[in-house]
This record gives sequence, C-alpha cells and structure tokens, in this order.
Amino acid sequence: MGRAFPHLQPLGPTVSETAFQRCISPACGATYGTDEILVACPQCGNLLDVSYEWDRINVPTKLADFESKWTRRFDPLSLSGVWRFHELLPFAPPERIVTAGEGQTLLQQADAVAEFVDLDAGNLYLQYEGMNPSGSFKDNGMCAAFTHANCVGAKRAACASTGNTSASLAMYCAVSRLMKAVIFIGSGKIAYGKLSQALEFGALTVQIAGDFDDAMARVREVSSQLGIYLVNSVNPFRLEGQKTIMFRVLEALRWQVPDWIVVPGGNLGNSSAFGKAFAELHALGLIDRVPRLAVINAAGANTLYELFEHRQLRWQGGRGDLEPACQYYQELDAAKRKASTIASAIEINRPVNLTKCLRALEVCDGVVREVTDQEILDAKAKVGAGGIGCEPASAASVAGAKVLRSQGIIARSDRVVCILTGHQLKDPTATVAYHTTDQEKFNEVLGCRGVRRATYANRAIAVPNDLDEIIRAIQLYS
Ligand code: F0G
Repeated sequence: MGRAFPHLQPLGPTVSETAFQRCISPACGATYGTDEILVACPQCGNLLDVSYEWDRINVPTKLADFESKWTRRFDPLSLSGVWRFHELLPFAPPERIVTAGEGQTLLQQADAVAEFVDLDAGNLYLQYEGMNPSGSFKDNGMCAAFTHANCVGAKRAACASTGNTSASLAMYCAVSRLMKAVIFIGSGKIAYGKLSQALEFGALTVQIAGDFDDAMARVREVSSQLGIYLVNSVNPFRLEGQKTIMFRVLEALRWQVPDWIVVPGGNLGNSSAFGKAFAELHALGLIDRVPRLAVINAAGANTLYELFEHRQLRWQGGRGDLEPACQYYQELDAAKRKASTIASAIEINRPVNLTKCLRALEVCDGVVREVTDQEILDAKAKVGAGGIGCEPASAASVAGAKVLRSQGIIARSDRVVCILTGHQLKDPTATVAYHTTDQEKFNEVLGCRGVRRATYANRAIAVPNDLDEIIRAIQLYS
C-alpha cells in the first residue's frame, strides 16, 4: 500500500512567484501574495481572485495536451481530476498539494432526461459530481483551498455549511490529518447523509440557532478572531479547484464547447468559478468561444433571480451599482424572510459570491431562473430514473433547463450540460418522501410548501405476508 499523500513534504510557508491574489473591483485592483490568508480585499472589502502571470507559466498550447496525464494514473496528482489541470491553477508547488482522488467524474449523455427537458436526443449531458470522494462537487474546491491552507501552515480550518462543504472539509481533515475541522451548521434543515459524514469524520460540529446565512456570518467572525483558516467559497483558492469541473466537461466532450452550462445557484461559488474558467481559457486562446451560463435558484431562495432578472443588477465591468442588492437585503430583513426550499443545499438568501457570479453572467451571456420545489422534485425523479441520481439541489439544474427550453431560450438543438452537484444518497429523506408519501401529507413530511403531486413516483406496494397475494401483486404490477 502506498501512502495516501506520498508527495507531501513538511516545508515552511510557501509563496508563489507567478500567482497572486487580486481584488476583483477594477477601481481597486489591489494585489496580495499567495502567502496571505484573506477572504476579502483589506482595502475595499470586495472579493478576491487568484490571478496568474500567465506569460511566465508553462501552459499547454492546446487542451488536448492534458491527455498526456491519462497515462500517469499511478501519480496521485495526474489521477486527480483537479490536479491533472494543475497548469491552469498553478498557485501551489506539487509537494504541497493535497489530493484525495477527487474529480473522477462522469459526463453522462441522458436521453430520457433530454426528452423530459424537450431537447433533441443526444444533446443533454449530466455532469455527475456525486462521484467525488465525499459525494459532492465540493471536493474540487476543497482540495484547492486545503492545499492553500497547507501552504500557509494552517492547523485548523472552518466553514459554515448546508452540509456538503462541511462533509468535504471534514473528509480532507480526516484523511490527511493535516488540520482539525470546525464546522458551523444552522439549526434548520441539514440532510442526514451530510451530517453523518461530518460527525463520523470527526469534525468539531457547531450547530447554531439560526439558518445558513446566520452561520455564514458567524463563521467569518469566529475564524477572523481565532485565526482559523476559512474554506467557504469566499476563499478564492477554493474557486480555482472548482474551475476544473468545466475542464472535465470539455475533456469529456473532446474539447468542444457546449452551448449551455446549467448549474444550481446557492452561494454562487460554482457559477463564479465556471465564469473564471471560461474567461481564462478564452484569454489563453485554448477555446474560441464561451458557452452560455444558466444559474438556477430555488424559488424559496431566489436572491440572484430577483436581483438579476427583476432589478437589473449587473456587473458592468465592475462598475455596476450594487445598491439594489443592499436594498433587497434590507427588505428581506424587514419582512423577516428566511430562505426556504426542499433543496436544503441551496437554501441561502445572501450568496457570498454575488458579485463574482454577476461577472460570470457577463462573461458567459448568462441568464438566471427560479424553479419551484415541485419542479425540483419532479426533475430529480426523472434524473434518478436514469440510474445515476442526485440530491434535490442538483436537480434544480435540470428543472431550470426545462424552464429555459419551454421559454425558447434554450433551443431544442442546443447542446446542454446540467451539473449534478451532489450524490443521490446525501438526502434520501427527500427521495423516499417523494416516492411514498400521500399527496396531502407532502408538505408536512418534506418540510416544504407547494409540492402537490409526485408525478413520477415509484410507489411501494403493500401486500399481506401471504405467498399467493405476493405472487398476485407481482403479476399485476410487473
Ligand atoms: N448543490 C449542492 C449539492 C450544494 O451543496 C451546493 C452548496 C450548491 C449546489 C450550490 O453551490 O454555493 O456554488 O452556488 N452547498 C454549500 C454547502 C452552500 O455548504 O455545502 P454554490
């Protein structure tokens, strides 16, 4: 047996000479070294990017050059679906990189789902991120943030989470034994699959009386006061890892750019990372066009949808007026409105990456839609019927693609990639409830509003413990 982290060596803090952190606001643009631990620009408070001096970095001249890594699967960094693209996120030296075999994911052509969405057969793809070691896309970003934490010598790492970020952080801490995990969860909904991971992996789990937005605000305060490394997606290094989801989509499409990427929106880390990935690939001349991006909110947690589609909030090259967002948050507070959706992973009203996501929407000529819990659960049932299922939040992408298709924004002949962000078994409660609950009890059992029918339910049949009755039932139903 090889060691899990054969390449890791105990070194002092590292600083990259070709990577740095930069404020995303063009008016500020302040830069900081990679040895600094920051989650916002100290000068103006805006989010930070990891930027690179690309002309000093040996980047492959074409994306197909990355295929040379495929023959080196014995090397953990070439096996990793994140680190085999190291040249496109080169902020850490190889000996500091942490990997747990993340990013072994599948782009699945799903014709039954294509029919449901009303796309031509062969044109709908599901990028299944549930195959990651902790069962969600978070591992893509967590291995990158964790690597940075390792570069700066952090001993404790923290996050607020609706469940998957905490599962991922707890996993990297447990498997690498480099740091101790401190996780903050709200007292509302957290799917048991996710909570069970954090507990079993040994994370210090702090459940605060409040929801995710409250937990997020608190973890920022606590990590800054106690000097704990914060791994939520305000951490710019995390988003570097999440760029690779797009690299793998392109890889699976033999480096062809699809027409649409459709992704659920919660804290808006993924959508922000995808926009950055495509902006960089385009600037490096590695792709000749960028796909369009669709970010899908749950209707019960629809801040981005409200701000982008109704209040015309825009990035405008970094000069957009953010006042509508402040105004909207005041309205939420005044009405004491909390996020509420069956898709607990995206039950977020104050997305921390709002500005970066607006930038991504500009880069990718994006759109935002909201989908109801009913639409999410029906889409999830359709995805699951295809054999590789997903958790409720993930199905928002498929439900959103269906809405955009019905509005004629996505054409029937478009090539569409929906991101399935998390594994089906993360939240079995929602799945079992959909398939077994009597219609009038839905909202009570699922803890949500507005779900009226389970159109695609596969109901269990109840039979007496009697051989003849059992045989009769099987013959009747099969
Ligand atoms: N899908 C799943 C399964 C998630 O867990 C999350 C976020 C999202 C989508 C939204 O992604 O934040 O990049 O827009 N989960 C976070 C967590 C908030 O704490 O696990 P985003």
